[in-house]
Amino acid sequence: MAERTLNGEVYYPAEDIVSNSNVPDRAAVTQAAESDLAGFWNQIAEENYEWFEPWHTTLDSSEAPFFKWFVGAKTNIVHNALDRHIKTWRRNKVALIWEGEPGDRRTLTYHQLHRQVGRMASVLRAMGVRKGDRVTIYMGRVPEIVIAMLACAKLGAIHSVVYGGFSVEALHGRIEDSHSKVAITCDGAWLRGNIVPLKDIMDEALHRSPTVQNVIVVKRTGQEVHMEPGRDLWYHDLLNLPIADPYCETEVMDAEDPLFILYTSGTTGRPKAILHTHGGYMVGTSTTLRTVFDIKEDDVWWCAADPGWITGHSYIVYAPLILGATSLMYEGAPTHPFPDRWWKLVEEHGVTILYTAPTAIRGLMRFGESWPERHDLSSLRLLGSVGEPINPEAWRWYHRVIGKERAPIMDTWWQTETGNFMITPMPETPLKPGSASLAFPGVKLDVVDEEGDPVPANEEGYLVITTPWPAMMRTLFGDPDRYVSTYWERFSKDGEWIYMTGDSAKRDEDGYIWVIGRVDDVIKVSGYRLGTAEIESALVSHPTVAEAGVIGVPDELKGNIIKAYCILRQGIEPTAKLADTLREHVGYEVGPIAKPATVEFVNSLPKTRSGKIMRRVLRARALGQDEGDLSTLQPD
Ligand code: PRX
Repeated sequence: MAERTLNGEVYYPAEDIVSNSNVPDRAAVTQAAESDLAGFWNQIAEENYEWFEPWHTTLDSSEAPFFKWFVGAKTNIVHNALDRHIKTWRRNKVALIWEGEPGDRRTLTYHQLHRQVGRMASVLRAMGVRKGDRVTIYMGRVPEIVIAMLACAKLGAIHSVVYGGFSVEALHGRIEDSHSKVAITCDGAWLRGNIVPLKDIMDEALHRSPTVQNVIVVKRTGQEVHMEPGRDLWYHDLLNLPIADPYCETEVMDAEDPLFILYTSGTTGRPKAILHTHGGYMVGTSTTLRTVFDIKEDDVWWCAADPGWITGHSYIVYAPLILGATSLMYEGAPTHPFPDRWWKLVEEHGVTILYTAPTAIRGLMRFGESWPERHDLSSLRLLGSVGEPINPEAWRWYHRVIGKERAPIMDTWWQTETGNFMITPMPETPLKPGSASLAFPGVKLDVVDEEGDPVPANEEGYLVITTPWPAMMRTLFGDPDRYVSTYWERFSKDGEWIYMTGDSAKRDEDGYIWVIGRVDDVIKVSGYRLGTAEIESALVSHPTVAEAGVIGVPDELKGNIIKAYCILRQGIEPTAKLADTLREHVGYEVGPIAKPATVEFVNSLPKTRSGKIMRRVLRARALGQDEGDLSTLQPD
């Protein structure tokens, strides 16, 4: 048991939680990783996975910052997530428990999932999909999204999942950038009792760029949809064909071969395609899940994220299956039909570990304690949080009302780029509400000033990472220069590669990290990552708008909300109706999550002399704060 010497509001874990956890001695593991980073990961990789051929080099830094892990090894993540389990007693273990929003249920054992993935992979292979080809997946939260991702990986094709809450232009841009050959979608998805018309959105996106040869459509919501002859095929029809063979060979991949790309918003310009690989990602995601969420054979793990974001990729699809765990996936909204839907799911499926985002907790907290109190939540032994800083009030509610003051909360800080948890408690770690606590073993980080020098305790600075890790992104697909300039140029010095996270943080006197938020033009709305550039370009794509600037401002429920400032074209009347039209337009082009909360019409936008919008100034004005140094401001 740790000595009770930490400062501030601290929650110490119960002794049995520590002694029963997979890694009871964090300090010892951290020390082992620090004294020999490559050796630490080498041992984990050797002991926990099947490799077709071993590696000759654990960590290759010779082309840094293009780090490589397990170089020379051959594997396939799907071999480790499925194929190897069906040779063991886990064959008939439940891999996925699924519940649809209308209440329908399905379960898939490892054996069944393996067969389904084989069938989808055989279909894709028959369509000509080969190693290295890109496949766009745009679906709701149904088991087929997991099947589709694994089917691509089994063939060595690179999946590019576009979150089902994104819309026409966002989807089109991602399909075009990835040069996808095949797309997989659903007719629709259920959300709050309504249908999200995924196929219609896909049609419109493909209309703007006809590069996709085939679209596979999974029937979910059942309404009439257009099927383009020669291009679109129903999945259930394909399954009736002999090509849908459940036996499909798993492609032998280099550890460093690409597994997927996932677009994420960056500082400027178009979204970046983060690239992850078969080997390092497999090792990193599953090791962090086993260590932090203490996964055991009899757990029911529920990561309530969407498979379309990195949280879902790593901790719904890949890591739990690699560990042979049982996961729950739920299709719809947490409050449908009533605000106790989630708590009912926990009770009925006996969920033991729940991992979600602060915005969801705050949203459910609003409805009061009576909703969770109607349900037996005693199965829960661990809780998790991700996506944005959790405010202490929400943390305490989650801990008391949901965790019954027993279940520790793992507040995990990480990013699409990092692939897995980077700053996180473990069950043994004393917790401070609002702090993600300490770096995962082997991860070294710092909080630095403009010059890259460490700042004193409790001062805000840039959060940087100073060691490579196996699940780190390898590059930006199609744009390696941007990978170097975005992440590595700002702080690397004296031959040392330093990764810039884009976040600011403080480190307190106990070494605990308090992440404050983004320092770039990324806005986190309800934990979703959005870029100002994408929203601004949607606004100026409307015929009435000449120029637009958007910022995030703090919001109690959503973390941040979007405020837009627009300069209208000559002769256009600034009306409240037009503001609404523009909000809807962003919703249609980018997605409902990107809709600005307000649209304000202005005559000018603060810009630098080189013409860049000074969002810092807009933000200061919106919050009534000091506008700071305006010496670079362009005169009106
Ligand atoms: O600002 C940090 C915030 O989310 C960003 C990464 O977003 P994304 O790539 O969409 O990945 C989200 C899920 C891994 C980070 O730069 N963030 C993520 N987790 C936390 C967080 N901020 C504070 N505390 C966290 N636990």
